[in-house]
Amino acid sequence: MIQHSGLYFTLLFLASLCRGQRSDPDAERPSCSRCDLHLSCDCSHHGFTVVPTVTEHALILDLSFNNITTVTDNDLTGHTQLRALSLHGNQLSVIEPMAFDSLWSLEELDLSDNQLTALENTWFSKLGALQRLNLLNNPYRGLGSPAVFQGLVRLRRLALGGPALQELKRGDLGGVAQLEELTVHANNLTRYEPGALGDIWPLGRVTLSLHEPFLTNTALASAVLCDVSYPETPIILEDLHLTTKLSIQPLRESARRRIRSITFRNVFIADNTIVNLLVVLNGVPVTSLFVEGMTLVGEGRWENASWTDHRSIDEFLIRNVVVLDVYRFVSFLQLQFLLKYPRKVSVINAKVFVLPCATSELLENLQYLDLSDNLLTDLTLAETLCNGRGKLKDLRVLNISGNALKSLSTVSQLVKKLSKLTHLDISRTGYSSMPQGCSWPSLLRYLNISKAKLTTVTPCLPTTLEVLDLSNNDLKDFTLALPALRELHLSGNKLLRLPSGRLFPNLQTLIIQSNTLNMFGRSDLESYRRLQNLQAGQNKFVCSCEFVAFLQLDLMAGEDLHFADGEENYICDSPLDLQGQLVGQVHQSIVVCHQVLFVSVCCGVGLFVGIVLFISLWRLHALWYLKMTWAWVKAKRSSRRRRRVRDRMDSEPLLSYDAFVSYSERDATWVENFLVPELEEPSQNDSISARTREPLTLCLHKRDFLPGHWIVDNIMSAMEHSRRTVFILSENFVQSDWCRYELDFSHFWMFDGNAGRDAAILILLEPLSKDDVPKRFCKLRKLMSSTTYLEWPQEEDRRREFWRSLRIALRGEEEEED
Ligand SMILES: *[C@@H]1O[C@H](CO)[C@@H](O)[C@H](O)[C@H]1NC(C)=O
Ligand SMILES: *[C@@H]1O[C@H](CO)[C@@H](O)[C@H](O)[C@H]1NC(C)=O
Ligand SMILES: *[C@@H]1O[C@H](CO)[C@@H](O)[C@H](O)[C@H]1NC(C)=O
Ligand SMILES: *[C@@H]1O[C@H](CO)[C@@H](O)[C@H](O)[C@H]1NC(C)=O
Ligand SMILES: *[C@@H]1O[C@H](CO)[C@@H](O)[C@H](O)[C@H]1NC(C)=O
Repeated sequence: MIQHSGLYFTLLFLASLCRGQRSDPDAERPSCSRCDLHLSCDCSHHGFTVVPTVTEHALILDLSFNNITTVTDNDLTGHTQLRALSLHGNQLSVIEPMAFDSLWSLEELDLSDNQLTALENTWFSKLGALQRLNLLNNPYRGLGSPAVFQGLVRLRRLALGGPALQELKRGDLGGVAQLEELTVHANNLTRYEPGALGDIWPLGRVTLSLHEPFLTNTALASAVLCDVSYPETPIILEDLHLTTKLSIQPLRESARRRIRSITFRNVFIADNTIVNLLVVLNGVPVTSLFVEGMTLVGEGRWENASWTDHRSIDEFLIRNVVVLDVYRFVSFLQLQFLLKYPRKVSVINAKVFVLPCATSELLENLQYLDLSDNLLTDLTLAETLCNGRGKLKDLRVLNISGNALKSLSTVSQLVKKLSKLTHLDISRTGYSSMPQGCSWPSLLRYLNISKAKLTTVTPCLPTTLEVLDLSNNDLKDFTLALPALRELHLSGNKLLRLPSGRLFPNLQTLIIQSNTLNMFGRSDLESYRRLQNLQAGQNKFVCSCEFVAFLQLDLMAGEDLHFADGEENYICDSPLDLQGQLVGQVHQSIVVCHQVLFVSVCCGVGLFVGIVLFISLWRLHALWYLKMTWAWVKAKRSSRRRRRVRDRMDSEPLLSYDAFVSYSERDATWVENFLVPELEEPSQNDSISARTREPLTLCLHKRDFLPGHWIVDNIMSAMEHSRRTVFILSENFVQSDWCRYELDFSHFWMFDGNAGRDAAILILLEPLSKDDVPKRFCKLRKLMSSTTYLEWPQEEDRRREFWRSLRIALRGEEEEED
């Protein structure tokens, strides 16, 4: 016992835990982000089992055709801007009481095709803005109380009921005052309290499905019809099986209330019930009688009703008719009592293959004849139109769209004498060629030959036309002048360019989508003087700079011309990198679009920069640096080569000179007169030690360079074969190019690691401060600041000391070891 209660509490705890998790907002809820630019979110057909999270800015949320079973109080919180919510086609059985409470802006709510077994008034209590509510096809048996629609003051369209609806009571629709549209599916209704639907007024269109009541409970059906029948309220009756005299009875109620428009939709009917219906409607001012979806059993024997009066019938429409016994069907000839009144007759998709001329002649008042989607051929059309003898003299609109017609000249001959004909619809036919000349009624303004197979346009087309639809043919160009034309439809052809506007001085609308237009421009449109509405999307646009600029600037913001099909239809087809992009959002670079300008500006700038660069390089002696570097690289390479050769021969570097003397040509006299004699042939009477007095070997370029070798190579090898390099510095030196090379090479040599740090010896022939050396000889400047240099004294008595120092410097450390 104790154990049991323990288990019970554990379960309870677990249950509460689960509940807690479920109501935890957004936890593990899937999300849906399929929202477009207009914040319309299409989350349908996604297999959701709970309401997914969606941006709170959404205006339209379509959750139809998922497997959602529950809408919790938290699922839709925050959606205060939502205008339309569809939960159509889910498994919805639970809606928590406050689930819709935050949807203050909701105007449209669709809960149809779900599993709601009861409606709660708490659901809708906060939906003050709701205008449309669809509750069809849920398994609730009644609407429940208190009245569910009480708070819906703006409600204008209401749909309720389903196969399970059994009962409608007075007050069920409390709060619903006026409706534009009411739909009630009550095929299984068994209890109806008269007046349940009676308080709604004004009442727009009413659609009722009352299958069972019409069959088995005509009193109930009468009561329902009685409550919704008003002269101005069109009534649509669906899903009826009218085979007995009794099944027609409920319509007496509507007839008594003098309804004007009645539609039967999806109805099974027999000859005798048609007679009964005509009797019931005798003298009733019904102006429109529509039948959409009818299965007829019988032979068309309705003459027993020929005494009835139907003079008020103005419009008669039958669409989608199946005559079960079509071969036994008698002619309409005895139907004069019916046929002589209506002005509009439509027999659409009824397998009509001919309307005999005799029957046509009965249609005395006919102004509008629609025989679209039937089986007429050129031959039977001739019979129907009495071989063009001009019967149906009041006919203004003829629609024979969707028939198996082949010859355009035949139809033009047949309608020629219909002197009042203004509209002719011969679309969806087999016309494949257009003769050079045709004859048409003189008033023909509207001609629709869309979805035929035309390849050319000829003067067959009448010049009186104001509206011409040639869309979805195979036209490649259009060169016919139509001075009165206001509207031209050319979508779905193969036009490569816009037709010239000069052909249509009055054209206001041009629809030319889905052709093969590559581009068009201002000049093309300027030839259209009156054009206001152009729809040219879905073409294969070549997004050239001119076209993009034109479309973006002149058109999207244009005032006189309106692009009715919207920016999103203008998509680039080429060039490849722009394919698929919206023309309105393409950003093209200046480089691509203004090539000439770009190139000339670039050249100009380039030239300018070049000149500036050249001037500054010239000023900065760049050429000199360049020459230097080149020489340096070359010399270094040959030096390395020499060294490699030497390494291969495994010999020590051969030092053939004590010093290489680098000097300017202009200082040659000093070198020859003072330096060479002093160092190479020292006088014996000097007070210097014998060792010091040993003659030194000097390398002078004048004397020791190999003729025929490149000078830099010579210098290089001279330095390599000399222990030291002596630089004779003077004004002349710094101005002599060769000296500069030598300086640099010595520098390179010094830091190349092969020579000692003091491989260079500077001799200043005249006082020369570091600052006298031009800045660009930075190496020399560096050398001057790092290396001690000897100054050539002007006074005789100090020269001895100078030579001594020089010798010591040349002999290097050997001297110091003494
Ligand atoms: C909904 O669930 C059923 C099974 O319960 C499944 O057959 C169906 O495919 C699901 N529908 C969607 C849209 O996922
Ligand atoms: C109601 O009518 C439908 C056909 O419209 C039928 O299939 C169904 O069994 C009927 N009864 C109930 C209680 O739904
Ligand atoms: C027409 O009326 C006659 C006599 O009233 C009757 O015999 C006949 O069956 C009726 N025909 C139809 C189609 O209702
Ligand atoms: C002719 O009928 C077709 C198909 O029913 C329809 O789309 C078209 O608008 C009709 N044309 C006119 C001029 O009413
Ligand atoms: C021409 O006929 C087609 C097909 O019937 C229809 O879709 C189209 O709207 C008609 N064109 C005009 C301008 O009414």
